[in-house]
Amino acid sequence: MSVAVDFRHLKGFVQDHEIEGLAPQIKTAHHMLHNGTGMGSDFTGWLTLPDDYDKEEFERIQKAARQIQSDTDVFIVIGIGGSYLGARAAIEFLKSQHYNALAKQTPDIYFAGNTISSSDLAELLEICKGRRVSLNMISKSGTTTEPAIAFRVFKDFMEREYGREEAGKRIYCTTDREKGTLKQLAEKEGYQTFVVPDDVGGRFSVLTAVGLLPIAVCGADIAALMQGAADARREYDNERLLENPCYRYAAARNILQRKGRDIELLVSYEPCCTMLCEWWKQLYGESEGKDQKGIFPAAATFSTDLHSMGQYIQDGKRILFETVVLFEKPKYDIVIENSPEDVDGLNFLQGRPVSYINRKAFEGTVLAHHDGGVPNIVVSVPDFSEYSLGYLIYFFEKACAVSGYLLGVNPFDQPGVESYKRNMFALLGKPGYEQEKEQLEARLKQ
Ligand code: PA5
Repeated sequence: MSVAVDFRHLKGFVQDHEIEGLAPQIKTAHHMLHNGTGMGSDFTGWLTLPDDYDKEEFERIQKAARQIQSDTDVFIVIGIGGSYLGARAAIEFLKSQHYNALAKQTPDIYFAGNTISSSDLAELLEICKGRRVSLNMISKSGTTTEPAIAFRVFKDFMEREYGREEAGKRIYCTTDREKGTLKQLAEKEGYQTFVVPDDVGGRFSVLTAVGLLPIAVCGADIAALMQGAADARREYDNERLLENPCYRYAAARNILQRKGRDIELLVSYEPCCTMLCEWWKQLYGESEGKDQKGIFPAAATFSTDLHSMGQYIQDGKRILFETVVLFEKPKYDIVIENSPEDVDGLNFLQGRPVSYINRKAFEGTVLAHHDGGVPNIVVSVPDFSEYSLGYLIYFFEKACAVSGYLLGVNPFDQPGVESYKRNMFALLGKPGYEQEKEQLEARLKQ
């Protein structure tokens, strides 16, 4: 068992019989998910993925990663939403938030195509100048505007730098197995391609080539990542709520929301988890937030955000609960030394590791927040290994799917994401959107 969940800090907010009361619904949700009878069942490939992945492609991913490590200084990963967040989260989690600035044998990795900021794009091009560059374009549909714009710009850059043929060897595409414009282009230009499986949606795709290629490029052990997820799959394949911490988490958050806790704050005490929180926000926000329902997923890094959000959490409107991801062992530790002057009065901490102080910050905070009326769930993870990350990813994915079914929504679609795109295309004058353009422009002038 690699992830342990502690529900003690729900005392006074969620009672045992309430959790037990959800056992029949959890059982139903479990069967809907596993038998493919629930909404969106065409997109449940991630359930068995940790064991049933394409082994031949997995080897190709590892081979491509070794190639990129040997011939590349800057690896540009283009993608948005589910086609970017998981890879970035994993790299920062496993390596560092400062990965690019650290001394290492592997390429710098930058993410593009996740905004439409021209400044951001221009800065990335500047970073690439005079350095050996490779590119991973990731888009399941192949038509998403943000990555498509970045790809146009970078493809052009690569072809100018290397010529079309050499550029073709440095461009890797991760997209649909058969359809889509990106797949066609890749075939035409001879880019190496990797597959986003049909039955895995973007936000559930981190353990496919979408996440695995960039993660392997940073030097991480992707086999251990898959193993962690595979072991989690076995642990959480249990319909009995009280024996399954993943389902218990889903049940607890469902009960909390019924009591008015509409915001879940995912908290970590490690900055390298900031992007993991972003990945989690997409996973839960896109899966649950529909039909005017769903818990709003937010995130914070403590103790940093205790100095900005702490006041609200402790004392503001009681609409929050927290899920804290805690690590038993830091990546590195530093011990507080004695200071003869003791100007800061911290000599009482002499000999203590900084991680010990971080732990006490958590203990103090969880009790204070509980006293202030904020329920807490604590998810403990042993370390920052690939194995633990794989385990944690699967824990959150499965809890998310079951949470969606408990709520009565389709956890695997995202119809709401289209609305802004329609408006943007209309305002940009895309052919076919003429009528909307007029209406929208009139509204903007009102
Ligand atoms: O979860 C999702 O489906 C989305 O976040 C998509 O991953 C995102 O919109 C990018 O889509 P695509 O991979 O088709 O470019």
